[in-house]
Parts: sequence; C-alpha cells; structure tokens
Amino acid sequence: MRPGERPEPGQVEPTRPGDTGTWRRLNAPEPEGAGVERSAAAARVHRFTDNISLRARLTLIYGMLFFAAGSVLVLVNYLIVAFLLNALLAEESAAELLAHRHLIEQVLTHVTRFSLLALFLVGLLAVVLGYAVAGRALSPLQKITRIARRLSERSLHERIALSGPDDEIRELADTFDGMLERLDRAFDGQRRFVANASHELRTPLAINRTLLEVALSAPDVSPDLKSVGQTLLETNARHERLIDGLLFLAKSDRELEVRARVDLGEVAGTVLSQLGGELSDSGLSLRQDLRPATVVGDPVLLERLVANLVENALKYNVEEGEVTIRSGMYEDMPAVQVENSGKVIPAYEIEGLFEPFRRGSGDRVGSGRSAGLGLSIVRSVVRAHEGVVTAWPRAGGGLVITVCLPPAPETAPARR
Ligand SMILES: Nc1ncnc2c1ncn2[C@@H]1O[C@H](COP(=O)(O)OP(=O)(O)OP(=O)(O)O)[C@@H](O)[C@H]1O
Ligand SMILES: [Mg+2]
Repeated sequence: MRPGERPEPGQVEPTRPGDTGTWRRLNAPEPEGAGVERSAAAARVHRFTDNISLRARLTLIYGMLFFAAGSVLVLVNYLIVAFLLNALLAEESAAELLAHRHLIEQVLTHVTRFSLLALFLVGLLAVVLGYAVAGRALSPLQKITRIARRLSERSLHERIALSGPDDEIRELADTFDGMLERLDRAFDGQRRFVANASHELRTPLAINRTLLEVALSAPDVSPDLKSVGQTLLETNARHERLIDGLLFLAKSDRELEVRARVDLGEVAGTVLSQLGGELSDSGLSLRQDLRPATVVGDPVLLERLVANLVENALKYNVEEGEVTIRSGMYEDMPAVQVENSGKVIPAYEIEGLFEPFRRGSGDRVGSGRSAGLGLSIVRSVVRAHEGVVTAWPRAGGGLVITVCLPPAPETAPARR
C-alpha cells in the first residue's frame, strides 16, 4: 500500500515509516444504505419483543388471568344481586313495583361501579404481588444462568448445587450438574492424555538425539552416514518441537495454576531481547512502543504468548519488511499488539490460523520448520487469562494481532 492511500474496509492501515504510531484499529466496513437501516429497525423491534423477560411475561399472564376471573366474578355478582332483588319484588303490587324499580336500578349501578373499582385496585395489587412472586420463583433459574455463564471449559469443576425443594428447577440444576461432571471428566482425561503422551514421547526422542550426536561426533564417520545422521537429527528436532508444542498446549488449556502480577511491557521487552539475534539477522526493521500494562496471570505462559507472536512476525515476513510491537492500555485493557508486513492474507483465512496444525495456504511446504501450534497456544493462553485475541489483515500484506487481557486489580483503568 502506498503512503496516503486509505486501507480497504476490513483491513488495518500499516504504521507509517519512522513511527511506532498509535494502536492499529480495524477499518470498519461501511453500512450498505437504506436496506441496512430497515433491517436494523426490524432487528430492534425483534430484540424488544424477544427481550421481554420471563418475569414480565409471567406477571402479564397473572394480571390478565386475574382481570378475566375478576370480571366474571363481577358479572356473576351482578346477576345474583339482580336476581335476588327481582325475587324480593315478585310479590309486590304494580304500584310498589314501579316505586322500587328506580331504587333497584340505582343499587345495581352502584354495586357494579364499586365492584369494578375494587377489581381494578385489587388487580393492581395482584400485578405487583405477581411480579414479586415471579421474581422469587425465577431466582433459582437466575442462579443457574449466572453460574452457567461463568463456567468455561477451564472451570468445569464448579457445580450449581441448588438447595431447596425437590421440584422441576432443582431437577434442571441437578441435570446440569451431572452434565458438567461428565464434561469435566472428559476434558480432564483428554488433557491428561495429551500431557502424558507428550512426556512419554519426549524421552525416546531425547535418547535418539543423544545417540545421533554421539555417532556423528566420531572421527571416522563417512560423509554418507553424516548426511543421513544430519537429516535424522533435523527430523528428531522437528518432532521434539511438535511434542513441546503439544505439551504446552495441554498445559495452557487448563485453569491457571500461577497467578502473579505481570507487566506485559516487561514481558515484550524480555522476548525482544531473547530474540535479539534473530531479529538483527533477519534484516527487518523493528519498532517498539512498550508501555506498562499490568495483568494477573502466569508469567511463563504470557512470555510464550508474546514470543509466539513475535516469532511468527519474524518468520512470515518479507525481505526488508517490518515488525512493530506495542504494549500498554488499549480500550481500557492491558494489551500487546504485534504488527508485521508479509504476504497478503485473506480475512476469511485468519480464523483458521488459530486452529492446531493449520498453516497459511502458502506455508504447507515450510511445515518442517513449524509445528502449526503457535497461534493455537496463543489463543489457549489468552482464554486461560479470560482475554481476547484479534487478528486483522494489514493493508499491503501481513497481520496485526492484538491481545487484550483483563486489567490487574488496583490498576488505574484509563492509563494509555
Ligand atoms: N504474523 C503473521 N504474519 C503472517 N502470517 C502468519 C503470522 N502468524 C501466523 N501466520 C500464519 O499462520 C499459520 C499458523 O501459525 P502458527 O504460529 O500457529 O504455526 P506455525 O508458525 O506454522 O508453527 P509453530 O508456531 O508451532 O512453530 C502460519 O503457518 C502462517 O501461515
Ligand atoms: Mg508460529
């Protein structure tokens, strides 16, 4: 992309040369005219009707039933009073009947008026009480919803454990608890299997490596054997990388075991100094704007997260390309952003890159150098820290990946 040119919608404008710039943001696609407006209005109406809570709906039903039953009662009352009064007058003479007729009509009008007023007032009271009762009846459901929302695959060991009468809601909560128990066991078993298998596979690979190195270090090794040995060493190293990646993925998929205050700026600085050699060998221009951003988390996992992003930015770059790393507060959250030039990546491919063993469409040949687990580990670590990771295509080629994590308690929220 040439300087001054606007990025396409759905792309991120690259940082200008000689500048670390501010946080890169996605250039949002433009709305598509009146059709969009109409469908937005329809969606709002739908949202309103869908959002009438169950509590309000139950109150409405109580109220309507009360008013219907009350109206029938008023009518029956009217008919009984009218019937009784008429029965009393049945034996009166025509002159007396005429004199009392007016009185009866007045009594009936008053009875009806006061009955309707009483119906209205008691009805209002019934609606208010209905609202309160519905709230009380639904509170166990709200508890179930709250807990279900809090649960993720990492905290599946939590249970609803609803106390109270053995009714339908308790049955629902118990069924939910049973499901969580089974899921918890399944996820735990899967993670333990990957971790154990990785451990088991590591030992023979380490033995292979040592044997090959010893064999190759002998002075009388023939060139053919040397070449075969080198190839085997490389294959062994690739498998070791893969197993390490799987082991790390299994570890980062669990709930956090270590929770320390970690400054993302410091982590990014450490990663940059660790990769200093590779960075200077790569010939890429590096820009950095590292500001403090404190989170609570596992420092080892967070360091691996940033390292994976920076390694990718180096690996999937172009000749004389650039890498920019920022840390600090982004939209009130501690964040780290890695931007790199590279080949153009279509937006629809990006989500898939976070899946294990997925590589960009052109990178399959390079699978010898990579395990295809780097971004899966990033996503997993971010999830374990309850954060979000977003990747956007950078205008002109490359990616902009932003990781936002929840701020550590007592961190000034609006620091930028
Ligand atoms: N910063 C980036 N710029 C361009 N493409 C990227 C970037 N990061 C990742 N990719 C693409 O995403 C794919 C997956 O990356 P990921 O880090 O998960 O695996 P990998 O780098 O192939 O292997 P590993 O990190 O395990 O050694 C890569 O093959 C590459 O095509
Ligand atoms: Mg990688």
